[in-house]
Amino acid sequence: MRTTIRALIEDAVRTLADTGTVIAPRPDAEALAAHLFGAGLAELEPDGEPGDRETARYQELVAGRAAGVPLGHLTGVAELAGVEVAVGPGVFVPRVQSESMLANGLGAIEGTDRPLVVDLCTGSGAVALAVAHHRPDATVHAADCDPVALEFARRNSARRAALGDTPIELHHADVTEPGLLAGLDGTVDLVLANPPFMPDDAEVPAEFGVYQPRLAVFGGPDGLHVIRHVVEAAARLLRPGGTLVVEHGHLHAAAVAGLCLADPRFTEVSSHLDQYGWPLYAAARFGGTKPLTAP
Ligand SMILES: C[S@@+](CC[C@H](N)C(=O)[O-])C[C@H]1O[C@@H](n2cnc3c(N)ncnc32)[C@H](O)[C@@H]1O
Repeated sequence: MRTTIRALIEDAVRTLADTGTVIAPRPDAEALAAHLFGAGLAELEPDGEPGDRETARYQELVAGRAAGVPLGHLTGVAELAGVEVAVGPGVFVPRVQSESMLANGLGAIEGTDRPLVVDLCTGSGAVALAVAHHRPDATVHAADCDPVALEFARRNSARRAALGDTPIELHHADVTEPGLLAGLDGTVDLVLANPPFMPDDAEVPAEFGVYQPRLAVFGGPDGLHVIRHVVEAAARLLRPGGTLVVEHGHLHAAAVAGLCLADPRFTEVSSHLDQYGWPLYAAARFGGTKPLTAP
């Protein structure tokens, strides 16, 4: 029996909501329809009647999403702050939550002419490319230790550059290495990072435990292994007055603020919620004075 696009989407919204793990059932159902029917959301004809093959294909995509396949792996793209990046198996799919972390970082460099920005754990490059898009005068460096992620970032940077954005500088580098981006020491205006932050033994939905790269999700026994190194690296990279903004797990707000406060050169340490009200990131200003030594 023929059905309409509107009815297919409504069925999909119910299916995705019933999983209890898909955060945004309607936007996801609509994005899958827009992807399959090759139209922007606004151009979809809700009363259009797709053929049997298209209907079956749509239902397959919805079943994949309900099983935890990231939306970006089904559509091949993800968007952060208006910047579209290519994603797929092997690279972390940027989360809309990161837009609030990004907004904080962009706010911190608002009055800075030609800022120098570093995005640690860049994955697809989404955060770095969003900075480059919104601040065309910025020089943006981005690092990741995973060659697969970095290849996505390279392609995304080339694509954004072809659209007129400033290219970013990519580094195959491990945040836990002491000399990370040492050439930039003491000069950086903003360090942003969305590191892996789930404890290794945490139970996570299939979307994160099965379909996203393990290296992108799990951050050691307490989930803080990479974050500790991000805070240390930021203290070396930032210029006096520079800012660190780092994402963390929703149980880690106090621990990550504590990691910053443990270095007295960090001041104005604050913890922030995402748009759904969950703790998401810490921000800190780097004072740049020498660490206090015990008497
Ligand atoms: C949660 S993903 C974030 C990706 C991207 N920033 C985003 O928001 O979509 C974390 C990223 O950190 C990278 N990563 C994990 N451990 C790392 C390390 N020790 N050094 C550098 N990158 C690391 C992973 O490869 C992954 O791409």
